[in-house]
Amino acid sequence: MEKYAKLWLKYSPKKNNKECGLLKNIVFSGSYTGDKIIENAKKELCLGLKGMLDITPVITEKTSGTACNEGAKGTLSSGKAILDNEEYTVSIKDEQLVIASGSSTGILYGVFDILRTVACEKDVAEAYSCMKKVRPSNPLRMLNHWDNMDGSIERGYSGRSFFYENNEIIINERTVDYARLIASVGINAVVINNVNVKQAASYMITDRYFEKLAELGEIFAGYGIGLYLSLNYASTIEIGGMESADPLDEDVKVWWKEKMAEVFKKIPTLKGFLVKADSEGRPGPFTYGRTQADGANMLADIAKEHGAIIIWRCFVYNCRQDWRDKKTDRARAGYDNFMPMDGDYHDNVILQIKNGPMDFQIREPISPLFGGLRKTNQMLEVQIAQEYTGQQIDLCYLIPMFKEILEFRTYCTDEKDKNWSDIEDIGNDGSYNAGNSDTVADIISGRTFGSRYSGIAAVTNTGNDFNWTGDYLAGANLFGFGRLAFDTGLTSGEIAEEFIRMTISGDDDTVDTIKGILLPSRAIYEKYTCPLGIGWMVKPNTHYGCSVDGYEYDRWGTYHRADHLGLGVDRTDKGTGYALQYNEPNASIYNSAEKCPDELVLFFHHLPYTHVLHSGKTVIQHIYDSHFEGYEEAKQLAAKWETLKDKVDPEIFNNVSERFTRQLYNAREWCDQVNTYFHRISGIEDAKGREIY
Ligand code: GCU
Repeated sequence: MEKYAKLWLKYSPKKNNKECGLLKNIVFSGSYTGDKIIENAKKELCLGLKGMLDITPVITEKTSGTACNEGAKGTLSSGKAILDNEEYTVSIKDEQLVIASGSSTGILYGVFDILRTVACEKDVAEAYSCMKKVRPSNPLRMLNHWDNMDGSIERGYSGRSFFYENNEIIINERTVDYARLIASVGINAVVINNVNVKQAASYMITDRYFEKLAELGEIFAGYGIGLYLSLNYASTIEIGGMESADPLDEDVKVWWKEKMAEVFKKIPTLKGFLVKADSEGRPGPFTYGRTQADGANMLADIAKEHGAIIIWRCFVYNCRQDWRDKKTDRARAGYDNFMPMDGDYHDNVILQIKNGPMDFQIREPISPLFGGLRKTNQMLEVQIAQEYTGQQIDLCYLIPMFKEILEFRTYCTDEKDKNWSDIEDIGNDGSYNAGNSDTVADIISGRTFGSRYSGIAAVTNTGNDFNWTGDYLAGANLFGFGRLAFDTGLTSGEIAEEFIRMTISGDDDTVDTIKGILLPSRAIYEKYTCPLGIGWMVKPNTHYGCSVDGYEYDRWGTYHRADHLGLGVDRTDKGTGYALQYNEPNASIYNSAEKCPDELVLFFHHLPYTHVLHSGKTVIQHIYDSHFEGYEEAKQLAAKWETLKDKVDPEIFNNVSERFTRQLYNAREWCDQVNTYFHRISGIEDAKGREIY
């Protein structure tokens, strides 16, 4: 019995490509150096082909020139830093399969490309008959672990941490397999500790942990993955014994200078730090009357001496709000706190921005910082740990949501706003598509503003459960996030199919059934939970299950403002003004109850229950319908899964089946509680006369 599931790297026997001669002789070609990554690439290729096809390939290396294995740090081309060295090609030459790249990481990605082709039983000769050229869409493709050193995981729904136990760092076989799993989908950066850095985690930058961190960093480096740590902003006080953490204080700077010199010497593979400051009780520069830029730049200037970066989170808002106060709007906070300093952040600072202005709800508008900030490196933060989206009990395949986020047009490149003199050389692929390079995907890839450091991070959903993600199907979010971060052009369906074929089954009917379960699952979850973009309505603290008023009279800035006439938050020019933080035409669209898309209308407007939506339904009828439908559709998902009883591994079948039982209970509670609440408060009957309590 295995200790844990191999997921999409299980390399079980395959029928297709058995006679494929191309797989017997494989060439690694390019200007890389033979290093640990190449060794791992060879090992992986042999392991995979042996397991799937009983082939042991002969691997020939044709290397030339110099190496550029800088990972996310990238190379400098003509004085400008463009991160393009993870690109690879796979082609057929002289009856051999040739993987070419300028870096060993690129070769490794080429290997995983071939293994994926075989695992999905695509014909190898056909797949590579024309040269396949792949360049990662984003420079940084990162996972953020919210693992604590006592082994717990903040918002973790799949067991305990596999990085820590009793305040010690664990390194074992699983650590290596973790690196393989995530490298195989293109992840190249990992933050291994919670953004809330407390207790033992504050000592990660002391000799108590250096040795283990160096070892871990080496393992990661062998798979092209950069190691990052979350940093306690108040380290000078908490571990330095000083009285201040003022970023402009000379003693504070000296302390950090010495500290970083020590840290980077002891952990040579360390690439930088992630910082949550002035957020939800964490210390930060505001304490000293300084700006976020003062804090970030102080650390970044010192980190720069070591070639490292500072990723600074924008999750800064007043979490001690009075619910009576209708002027303060948490949604505004990110923009209000960070926009005024656009351009002040030094070039090795990246601002990490949550996809929405609130907090990983099932539906939020896109943060207006995307498209607002024009002179600052930016990274998108999403959450695959399903804190508000079902907690890996309820199924919620998030890739369709991430696609929507990435495809959102910010209109930040309108001629009137553009400072062409700043734009000499653009983006990863050197091209600049004027007038149409303003999506979130464009911005975080570096294309829009020629950013050197940018990308996408996900708060990860892993733990030490046998199957890593609690629910086997939640593995699709881990797999899918990596694949999408690597290639934002992939569709949700393509990604789902790869995941299913590699992890669960290659049988066409089974694949179709599971795809049919994954793809609509986000829409269904949205239907039976909080309507029309209003968000929240969850049980306080745990954030699982329905509690309509759970956060209504709390301090977190998360209100629905429902009364007997209507609900929603007025964020228009007549309300909090949040809608105006967007570029046009988005601002005008969101500001108008008539133009605003239905799915976000209660995020931006306080509306009567009788307001008629674009769908032709009233708000109240929409609430009833969508909840009844969502619950029914969740039942259909569960029923579809039951048809797979004899078609998938019993371990997987039973795991998912048990989750569906819990999902249906949860969905029914959501449906009945939300409908009952709004029926009672509005006094309006369901037009279809269904049972409401
Ligand atoms: C959410 C989450 C917290 C987390 C925070 C963050 O509020 O509930 O657990 O610390 O996000 O992103 O920092």
